[in-house]
Amino acid sequence: MQLAIAKEPARGETRVALVPESVKKLIAAGYAVAVESGAGTAAHFSDEAYRNAGATVSGDAKAMVAASDILLAIGPPSGETIASLKAGAIVIASLFPTRNLPTVRALAERSVTSFSTDAIPRTTRAQAMDTLSSMANIAGYRGALIAAMELSKYTPMFMTAAGTILPAKVFVIGAGVAGLQAIATSRRLGAQMSATDVRPEVKEQIESVGAKYVGIELKESASAGGGYAKELSEADKAKQRQLLAEQCAVCDAVITTALIGGVFAPKLISAEIVRRMRPGSVIVDLAADGGGNCELSVPGSTVVENGVKIIAPLNLAAAMPTDASTLWSRNLTNFLTTFTKDKAFVLDLNDDIQRGALVTHGGEVHHVKTKEAIAAHAASNANSTGQTASAAAGRAQ
Ligand code: NAI
Repeated sequence: MQLAIAKEPARGETRVALVPESVKKLIAAGYAVAVESGAGTAAHFSDEAYRNAGATVSGDAKAMVAASDILLAIGPPSGETIASLKAGAIVIASLFPTRNLPTVRALAERSVTSFSTDAIPRTTRAQAMDTLSSMANIAGYRGALIAAMELSKYTPMFMTAAGTILPAKVFVIGAGVAGLQAIATSRRLGAQMSATDVRPEVKEQIESVGAKYVGIELKESASAGGGYAKELSEADKAKQRQLLAEQCAVCDAVITTALIGGVFAPKLISAEIVRRMRPGSVIVDLAADGGGNCELSVPGSTVVENGVKIIAPLNLAAAMPTDASTLWSRNLTNFLTTFTKDKAFVLDLNDDIQRGALVTHGGEVHHVKTKEAIAAHAASNANSTGQTASAAAGRAQ
């Protein structure tokens, strides 16, 4: 079977899905590997390094994709790439299918079997394939560094001849993979840490990486299973707003990472909470890819409100492309080799990992939440078409 790696189509993307060390492993497992010329350049992997690892390097991406059985990628492939795929080809990438419905439809129309790594179940066996965790770790690490760089004060405590400087107080909201890494990194820089989450099991994890846990007693459980949180009830939201307002007002930096179902960012920091923060303080909104946890965040930009800097970086992993690509590549290699028998990828939809990650197969959409999103989208389109028609009929009368 031939694997293809094309240049990533998204603007600002610097990562590559497979790095030379994995090329060697996959060739040893029985695959042929074809890489588009320049696909690894932004992540500092040269065409020569791919050739030395045993890959063929192609200047013609369309022909390369058309001749391949499996496309490995970071994000959703372009329409042109999907059109070049063989019917029945396999795509393994992070598709975030509920956010990318046109891509999903195009994959289904082409009868492509697509697996989305962000939908891989959170089980012990799947841990080594989990691109979400690999990238969230980078986001948490970089987020802590951004907070330290953007603060108008030192992060650690300093005792100088001119007197003592107190350490920065950093508050982390959402202590999943990114949040725990942000706590650990800020703490290594000397910050005084506090953190909150809504899943009860996280309290111990927060304390184990050296932060003080602050939280509210929830009336309803916020655990949705599989490590994901669900949205709080209105009563719990009000209680949490009060806690967040108090914490944000006494901190120098707030790092937010909260997501519902791993996709959608609840608005936890209102404009009012920002107005009560100290001028010179910083919010690093690591949930910007999901819309942002702060009401004033502009994903991909920095805004200043009342002297508070609100930074909402997108795709932080792309700022560290060499290690981000290496980890991604290892995750995909683990996925592939787990299902390789007799030198070929074996489709096994009875396997919980394949079934969980499957988005399209045999011309149909299989991923349940994506199917629901497509139905909701179709219903809202039908609704707005109906409203336009009745408005036009009203005007005509
Ligand atoms: P995530 O990215 O979906 O969410 C980030 C954090 O935000 C979560 O800890 C969530 O509880 C929190 N959150 C949601 N709403 C909140 C609110 N209103 N206020 C405060 N916090 C809020 O989650 P992530 O980081 O991808 O994973 C969460 C957990 O899942 C991990 O801590 C781990 O236990 C588990 N996990 C297991 C894996 C495996 O076994 N293969 C792989 C990845 C994660």
